[in-house]
Amino acid sequence: MILYGASGHAKVIIDILEAMGIEVSELFDDNNSLEKLQNIKVSIPRETTEKLIISIGNNRIRKKIVESNSYTYGVAIHPTAVLSPYAHVGEGTVVMQGAIIQSDVVVGKHCIVNTGATIDHECQIEDYVHVSPNATLCGNVKVGEESWIGAGSVIIPGIKIGKNLVVGAGSVVIRDIPDNCIAAGNPCKIIKQKDNSMKEDLLIKLNLWGKYLIYNSIDVIGLCNLKIERYAA
Ligand SMILES: CC(C)(COP(=O)(O)OP(=O)(O)OC[C@H]1O[C@@H](n2cnc3c(N)ncnc32)[C@H](O)[C@@H]1OP(=O)(O)O)[C@@H](O)C(=O)NCCC(=O)NCCS
Repeated sequence: MILYGASGHAKVIIDILEAMGIEVSELFDDNNSLEKLQNIKVSIPRETTEKLIISIGNNRIRKKIVESNSYTYGVAIHPTAVLSPYAHVGEGTVVMQGAIIQSDVVVGKHCIVNTGATIDHECQIEDYVHVSPNATLCGNVKVGEESWIGAGSVIIPGIKIGKNLVVGAGSVVIRDIPDNCIAAGNPCKIIKQKDNSMKEDLLIKLNLWGKYLIYNSIDVIGLCNLKIERYAA
């Protein structure tokens, strides 16, 4: 398996794959100054027939990488995670230590179900969602594409969480939340709109095109990466 993104998040996925008995042969990263992570070689991304997992926490960046490449993807599910035999987990998804996914849950592609998160019966989690550590999704919750559920948040049964939104850490969600906002607190309320998505998109595209067009111009790539971290975190 190859991991795309030589990050702290990748370190956790390396542990998970090791526990599954799967070897990580290589990591890809756009930053050509990285040589190794956990003693595994880091290379510039290229076409490959080997299965891959995108080890980048930012939902939008995982989506952009999938859309601009034709890789095939594996899954990483830690042996201490508990999955119902009637749950479905899509390709590219990572289920971390101690997570629980109950019956009739559908988790989409390229999602992160982080350490100790629980997703109860019949929840539907769309692609590129991140459910952070210890978040609790009660039964029949729906989460839209690219949304990020903060650490330790609780979502009561039957709630519909929109697309491309953030639920703040420790929130208690008792009402549906619309697309493209940041919501937080107990009870969880909208605190702001996510109004920078066009800027974020442009910066991510620049970064992805940059590796082909201006690869030797390290300053430009570095600047793009810095801005992505600032705007897309
Ligand atoms: C929700 C969140 C994204 C907001 O970040 P932000 O856009 O930088 O917002 P700010 O820090 O400017 O806060 C704006 C307001 O919301 C409040 N707020 C922010 N996060 C909050 C939270 N989790 N719960 C309650 N209120 C929160 C702040 O107190 C502030 O209120 P004020 O205007 O009355 O002072 C962030 O605080 C958060 O919770 N991120 C999730 C982190 C996480 O779970 N990481 C897991 C990684 S695996």
